[in-house]
Amino acid sequence: MINSIIAATGLFTPDQAISNEELVAAYNAYADRWNAENAAQIAEGDLAPLTHSSVEFIEKASGIQSRFVLDKSGVLDPGRMTPNIPERGNDELSTMAEMAVAAARQAIAAWGKDVSQIGAVLCAASNMPRPYPALAIEVQQALGIEGFAFDMNVACSSATFGIKTASDFIGSGSVKAVLMVNPEVCSAHLNFRDRDSHFIFGDVCTAVIIEAEDQAGPGGWDILGTRLQTQFSNNIRNNFGFLNNAAPEGIGQVDKLFVQQGRKVFKEVVPMVSDMIIDHARDLAVNTDALKRLWLHQANINMNVLIGRKVLGREPSPEENVIVLDRYANTSSAGSVIAFHLHQDGFEPGETGLICSFGAGYSAGTVFVRKRG
Ligand code: COA
Repeated sequence: MINSIIAATGLFTPDQAISNEELVAAYNAYADRWNAENAAQIAEGDLAPLTHSSVEFIEKASGIQSRFVLDKSGVLDPGRMTPNIPERGNDELSTMAEMAVAAARQAIAAWGKDVSQIGAVLCAASNMPRPYPALAIEVQQALGIEGFAFDMNVACSSATFGIKTASDFIGSGSVKAVLMVNPEVCSAHLNFRDRDSHFIFGDVCTAVIIEAEDQAGPGGWDILGTRLQTQFSNNIRNNFGFLNNAAPEGIGQVDKLFVQQGRKVFKEVVPMVSDMIIDHARDLAVNTDALKRLWLHQANINMNVLIGRKVLGREPSPEENVIVLDRYANTSSAGSVIAFHLHQDGFEPGETGLICSFGAGYSAGTVFVRKRG
């Protein structure tokens, strides 16, 4: 069995951002407009009026202060409330491939090797722009990579599932290096007309190069162990899919966007993930107390703080439990990789950390890493 390392990472961040103040102002304008349009039915008691969203609630419930998006004006237009991302022709690089290529180029530059050494490209994300051809194959072609590529979707857990898949390919000798990308245009699956969830997500793309230890130079991170878990739940769900076309109701209902039972998710996912981390650490003979850093999926502040506390058995410091939610919001599969990419400072060779993601499915993945010399 050939061991794998995380050799390099990259991050593409859109150049537009929406603050909570801007988001709430747009939602409240939409709600006022909707209430005015439906005034008669509201007065009759047939419809409940929409109530305003609040910046204070959002910050307290989620820890989010801002999010990056591909298109700010469409989201903030009370008459639209969804991003405006024009379709591109088949001969143009697609929007999500462009994000992935930008993040991948950064990772490849940090790696410092030629793309001819990459044997596979994985696109691991919550939403793909089309069923086929695979986005990963488009990225592979744009970067001039040989070998094979495919898409995989495990919602917010996609990145850790991708790292494990890459590491297993390397372990069995199929390839020597894998590029994984996590393009997330969460703004296009989020219902900005839903007060309960309009603040949750942002857009971004991350990239990770996983390489065989026996050919890697110095630097990077040894992968000590990877573990995956799934458990069916309807509490985070998105019913968008090609069969919508064949359904008499057609498309456009709110369940064709992100929907969740937030409280249930909180209650059920926190113990599932905390127990999984503790069990996996024990099996790897890693003392959780000695973990220098947790790079958790950026779900929301309360969930992340609670998981950090359960895993370390004490209140983690901000350096131990990295939070990027404030600037990036929940970016689905990319969240834990953004945290890992931006916060690697202060590690001595031999020190360990944990990349962990969790989300819809339910699904969860753990990747324990050790700083290399
Ligand atoms: N602005 C102001 N008030 C709002 C609001 C908004 N945007 N959205 C909801 N509220 C109100 C509700 O109406 C409710 O009011 P009430 O008590 O008068 O009925 C109150 O805030 C609490 O609502 P609730 O939905 O119960 O909030 P919560 O405290 O459970 O927090 C989540 C909501 C989603 C932040 C929380 O459940 C959570 O963190 N869940 C984890 C889910 C998650 O992270 N999923 C991501 C995928 S991994």
